[in-house]
Parts: sequence; C-alpha cells; structure tokens
Amino acid sequence: MNRAFTIFGGTGDLTFRKLMPAWYNITTANAAESDFRIVIIGRRDYSTEQYCELVREWIKQFARLPYDEAAFDRFCQRITYFKMDFSDLVEYERLAQFYSKENITEHIFYFAVAPAFFAVIANGLKAVDNAGSGKVILEKPFGENLEAAKKLNIQLEEFFPIENIYRIDHYLGKEMVRNIQTIRFTNPIFANLWNSQYIESVQISAFEDLGVGSRGNYYDTSGALKDMVQNHLFQILSIVAMEWPEHFSTQAMHDAQLRVLKSLRRVKDIRDSLILGQYKGYRQEKNIAPDSATETYAALRLFIDNERWWNTPFYIRTGKKLKCREMQIAIVFRQTFIAASRNILIIKIQPNEGVHLQFNVKKPGGTDEITQAKMDFVQSSSFVNKINTPEAYERLITACVRGERSWFSQWDQIETSWEFVEHLKNLYRWDKLPVFAYEQGTDGPVEAENLLKRFGHAWVF
Ligand code: BG6
Repeated sequence: MNRAFTIFGGTGDLTFRKLMPAWYNITTANAAESDFRIVIIGRRDYSTEQYCELVREWIKQFARLPYDEAAFDRFCQRITYFKMDFSDLVEYERLAQFYSKENITEHIFYFAVAPAFFAVIANGLKAVDNAGSGKVILEKPFGENLEAAKKLNIQLEEFFPIENIYRIDHYLGKEMVRNIQTIRFTNPIFANLWNSQYIESVQISAFEDLGVGSRGNYYDTSGALKDMVQNHLFQILSIVAMEWPEHFSTQAMHDAQLRVLKSLRRVKDIRDSLILGQYKGYRQEKNIAPDSATETYAALRLFIDNERWWNTPFYIRTGKKLKCREMQIAIVFRQTFIAASRNILIIKIQPNEGVHLQFNVKKPGGTDEITQAKMDFVQSSSFVNKINTPEAYERLITACVRGERSWFSQWDQIETSWEFVEHLKNLYRWDKLPVFAYEQGTDGPVEAENLLKRFGHAWVF
C-alpha cells in the first residue's frame, strides 16, 4: 500500500464522529478506494493501539455498517497514530522520514483543523516528497471572513495544484441533496413550474436539537450565519434555484450555481431580511463569552434577481437547540383556486430522506368540499436503502480519491457567499439588529414567524 490518507486534527470531534466511521465503512465494504494507509496526526501521547481503542467506541456508535470485531481489526491494521505538533516546522522532517520508510508515495491530506493552521501545515509539507502533487481536503470553515479566505486561497494554491484542492461541504454528500437536481429536472410536473409564476416561496429549514457542545471556542466567533448559512444553506439554495446547466459537467453545474449566488439581491432593509436569535442558556455553555451576542439562530428572507425568481422569496432558517433535528426544503406553489390549499412539495434531507407532496382532492362522500392529500415517499424507510446509502463523509472521501470534483464546493462559490454574508453582517451591525433570546426546544424566536406573516406567508413546518 503506497497511498496514505493523512488526517491533521486526528483527535478532534470531526475525526472521531465522521472521518473514522467513514473510513471504517469504506474499508469494511472493501471498496476499490479503500487501499490507503490512514495516518493520524495528533499532539496527544497515544500509541496506535491506544488510539484504535478510542476509535472502537466511536465506530460502534456512529458507523453506518454494524460493528464487527474482525472487520474492525482489519481496519486498525491500516491506522498509524503519528504524534507531532503540526505547527512546528521541524517536525515535518520526521513525518517525511516516516513516509519514506513506509514507501508511501501518494498522498491525500485532510485538514480537520481551524483554518488558521491550513497555511502552516501546507508550508510544513514542503519537507515531504510528493506532497505537492498530492490532494488536500479542507474542512470548513474556509477562512474566518472574506479577506482571510482570499489570503488562504492564495497560500494553498502556491503549494497544491488548483485541481487537487477539495473544499468540503458535507451537505453536498447527503443523499437527498444529490437528489434535488433529479427531482427538479427530470419531472416535467415540477420542471415546468419551477419559477416565480408558479412558486410562491421556497423555504429551506435546517433545525438542530443539539447546542454548541464542546465547540464553544470556534462557534462563539462564528455564529449561525457563518457556520451554516454561508456554506451549507447557500449551496442548497443555489442547487434549488440554478438554471438548467448547458451540460451535466462539473464545471457547468458549478457555473450555474455560481450565477445564482451572484444574483442574490442586495438587502435594502435588513429588518425585513434577517432575524437573529440566541438560545437561552447559550452564554453559560463552555467557552462562550458571558455577554456573547453570537447568533445561534438565523432566519433570512432573500430574493434572486433573475427572470426565473424575481418575485419569489427564499426563506432560510437554521438554529441550534430547536425542537428537533430536521432539514427540509419546501416548495410552496401559488394558490390558484380560492377554496383550495396551496400545493406543497417537500424534499426531506434528514433525518428521514424522502419527498412529500400535498395536493387537493375532493373529500370522500356526498360533499364537494376540498381536502388535502398528503403523499409521502419515505426513501430511508427501506432497510436496503439505508444499509446501501453511504454517509456524506464516506462519499466525499471516495469522490476525492476518484477525483470527482462535483461533490465539492468551488472557490468562487465560497468567495461569493462570503461576500453576501459580509454584506448582511455590515448591515446588521450598522443597524444594531437585536439578537432575540429563544427557549430551548422550540421553533426559535417568534420574530421569525412574524417576519413571514408580515409578507402574507407562513413557515411550512
Ligand atoms: C457543521 C456545523 O458544518 O454542520 C455544525 O459546523 C452543524 O455546527 C453541522 O452542527 C450539521 O451537520 P449535520 O450533518 O449534522 O446536519
């Protein structure tokens, strides 16, 4: 095995919860892409055996495929824990020697660390033969703001070829996010109505029931807008709203998405466009400033300035410590008949995967009253689907090995969404927008309900 997948940040939450379970699944399924040594870089003083013992518990809890002793042992044989301080340039010599002793000549590096360390690591890797022709996967956030992101981009492109830089947005690996284009473009009953003339609003909701947990240090300097909206939710918005790409190449898709992001209408009145919230108790969480004004909830009302969407608001909301963990996209069609309800198409991203359609039918019996039929396609209810559907990180690692770039976000998309989020942030700072406190286990601040009410709309769920 002369290929290595090296994870910087090997003792972090992401590695235990997502990356190791993903690798366990890939190796257990014996996928063609599994032929890698897994090198874990961490500062803590573990032996490989001790590290594997830690991993065992996470696999039991988080891996899609059931835990199996023999499969786990085989998986562990690929792992090497390499203790080093990745901010110390001298240490990379030792790493280089390790790779050459092990005959490793092909590399994928995964930067599961804060963006402030990306350039430091890239610099250190200059000591490693062939590292510069390897691939690198960058975990979000990509930079702390637009300026930092631009600088980082230049630094990384100096070391890795552009086509070898993979910026991860794990929402792009979710089954139903990949399904949006198929549902949209291959069904004339939707494709022909996918515009302002027929669609009254688009609603993208990403609810989380958990709080910030152990990530207070990072989250308190980020907040919902940067943590969820700038990346995951803008990616989804651009897929929902994009024009039919000229062809289904990665570049054509990325360009179509980028055009949407570039067409986001600049906000004039921030109070008609953004509601911020913070869950009660947030300031008492670990590593959170006692007077923190960081938003753990954001609801947005946005417009896309093009012919297709000029009159359709895109409502987006996300928050922590809400009533449930659920992510869905609701397409609310215009009401065309006064006595009948609106047709609604809901694409369910998680935890259930599927499609829900609401339409009008006559109530059974001797009446002409209209009622709503609610049709559910629950894709994830099938055991076969569940067991055969790779998780997001599993797919993305596999896609990187294969060089399938459509699964990753592109620099100009990131740059454009940063620009828009900074535009919002400047407006709300200038306007001293309040951050509303909300009870845990609810829908978030009531002001987000009122925002839609003001414009004659309501959240679908
Ligand atoms: C991450 C955010 O990118 O996505 C987290 O940093 C968030 O704050 C997570 O909890 C949500 O991911 P998922 O896959 O659980 O919806």
